Amino acid sequence: MIRTWHLEDPQQSLVLASHDDRLPEIIYWGAALPEDEDLTSLAQACRADVTGGMLDRAPEVSICPESTQSFPGEPGLIAYDAKGRPLRPAFRFEAEESDDNGVTLVYADEATGLRYRASFALDPRTGLISARAAIESAEPITLHWLTAPVFPAPQLADEMLELSGRWCGEFRIASTPWQAGQRVRDNHTGRTGHEHFPGLILPARGATKTSGETRAFHYGWSGGHRMVAEELPDGRRQIQFGHASGSEPQPDTRFETATLFSAFSQEGSNGCARVFQRHLRHTAPQTSPRPVHYNCWEAVYFDHNLSELQEIASRAAALGAERFVLDDGWFGRRDDDTTSLGDWQIDPRKYPDGLAPLIDHVKSLGMSFGIWFEPEMVNRDSDLARAHPDWLLGPEDQIEGRQQRVLDLARPEVRAYLFEAIDGLLSDYDISYIKWDHNRVLPAPDAAQTRGVYDLFDQLRKAHPSVEFESCASGGGRIDFGILERTGRVWLSDSNDALERLRIQHDAALFLPASVTGSHVGPRVCHTSGREIDIHTRAWVAAQRHMGFEMDPRELTDTEAEVLSTVTAWWKANRDWRMRADILRLESADPAVIAELQLAEDGQRFVVFAGQVTPSDQILPRPLRLSGLDPKARYRVRLINADETSHLSRGTPALKAGAVELSGQALMGQGMTLPWSFPERIRIIEGERL
Ligand code: GLA
Repeated sequence: MIRTWHLEDPQQSLVLASHDDRLPEIIYWGAALPEDEDLTSLAQACRADVTGGMLDRAPEVSICPESTQSFPGEPGLIAYDAKGRPLRPAFRFEAEESDDNGVTLVYADEATGLRYRASFALDPRTGLISARAAIESAEPITLHWLTAPVFPAPQLADEMLELSGRWCGEFRIASTPWQAGQRVRDNHTGRTGHEHFPGLILPARGATKTSGETRAFHYGWSGGHRMVAEELPDGRRQIQFGHASGSEPQPDTRFETATLFSAFSQEGSNGCARVFQRHLRHTAPQTSPRPVHYNCWEAVYFDHNLSELQEIASRAAALGAERFVLDDGWFGRRDDDTTSLGDWQIDPRKYPDGLAPLIDHVKSLGMSFGIWFEPEMVNRDSDLARAHPDWLLGPEDQIEGRQQRVLDLARPEVRAYLFEAIDGLLSDYDISYIKWDHNRVLPAPDAAQTRGVYDLFDQLRKAHPSVEFESCASGGGRIDFGILERTGRVWLSDSNDALERLRIQHDAALFLPASVTGSHVGPRVCHTSGREIDIHTRAWVAAQRHMGFEMDPRELTDTEAEVLSTVTAWWKANRDWRMRADILRLESADPAVIAELQLAEDGQRFVVFAGQVTPSDQILPRPLRLSGLDPKARYRVRLINADETSHLSRGTPALKAGAVELSGQALMGQGMTLPWSFPERIRIIEGERL
């Protein structure tokens, strides 16, 4: 007997089929099937052949491949009973529950007493598919591996794209060829990690940023993930995502995966990026309109002085800042990073009258006030660690990270302590923003820690619904859709080097919209790269995303301050549509140019950022082809920073002289001829549909 289930929208179909009540497999995920497609015939047509050297039936690549089926690859579940004996269920259909957007399937195995649940949902607003799995047992079991429902990987594809990275160099795309065997990523750091963004992009052969069939995945979990992308000996391919191995050290009667988010598009990786970006634009809890940010970290570090901070706040406000964030250094005796994490009491040496004099000043300037915490962490040199040495995770002789250790957030009393400390400050003062940091890896992965921190976030958000949170972990070490259910902004990187940032922002846009992506104008000489970068470039790169400043504004010359004020005013004038725009990464014919187009939700306007990172190999700029426009419509395009064009641009491309009117087809098919540019500069082109 064949059962089928169909999730569909105008762009895509996802079809599940099962034979004889066994677990189903995704037999089709791609462009929308016609309404009258016979899914039973499709299931029959998809059945694999059998030949020599294999079993008498090819076991399904089911949503949870079973070793009882002699599955020739990674099984979906690896679990043991209380005596350490492997549990090998052969699940059979028990029940299903459907609603408008999805289906939950329940399967049971009599011999082991295990029950398996998988749910799939397709969000009609975005086209995003969410899938989760859970396993239940009457008796406690030990879980080694549970995958979120398995997706097939396309056959007409030669490579997979993952995102690796490092501190100050997040979101680096790495390509791996498909070949027989497994590509495994297992992140043992206990947090999402700079190194292991939980995403995977599967372009079909020939797909690019702007065209071609592409599938993409994201595992929405902040505790570290495991990914298996496998080509079986018979050539079929499967994608598994779950918690990192070792994440569930304790036996239990129920385990579940986080949500695996999936997107399909025929418009290249941009099509998938648009789905992920739209999801976060709808769901990330954030204040709107997005206020221009000021963060004092790179201005003062731990050296807090009230009158200096007041002066900095005044100058930041004059430049256009609307939110002032007091970073690390305000609590305990935190004069450097060796001490005081955990002691969340205001330092009376730095703030003898509490935070009121600073907050009142900030508010008198029309700005809101935010503050930094690193709740999960503790220095051994702190009153908290001295009072509760048993609250610290990991062995006594562990290697520390930034001289700090991790608190055990699985313990309710630890969460209660942290809740009280943070809630106390939020209740005493008018604070509407918390930058929540996480500056070291865990001594060992533990899903209970992640569940604990989610619970703490949820309690605080319930008690203070108007407070917005930012996720930071030495920059972009904790960016994922799990944390983004609780935070409205991520600190993408500790690199305020505008050129590095341009690249990181470009690649992070595969998943992140502008509204959640923090980007700050850093000091003239970048603190993490030593590079001196022009204020125009620093300002425009920050203006690509959720804009802020982080330098000491007292270092700005009058000219620099003027440039920054002008770009900030432009940012504010355009934020309403831009914070809801789709970011489309452009194919640049010139590898020295990184370019993107931000397209308004209604398609009526756009802006292109074309960054000339290094000098080009060839003499003249190569035309830049746009994307996402209506080929038949006409657009008026204008280089809005023509005044920044170098004197070495001596010709007369039309864009230099003023607005140009062209069809979408011309802009996408031929592209725009840009004026010649110095390296390390960025050209900004606005477009309006006529
Ligand atoms: C981390 C963050 C920085 C800053 C410092 C404070 O490194 O990424 O932005 O908040 O901590 O100690």
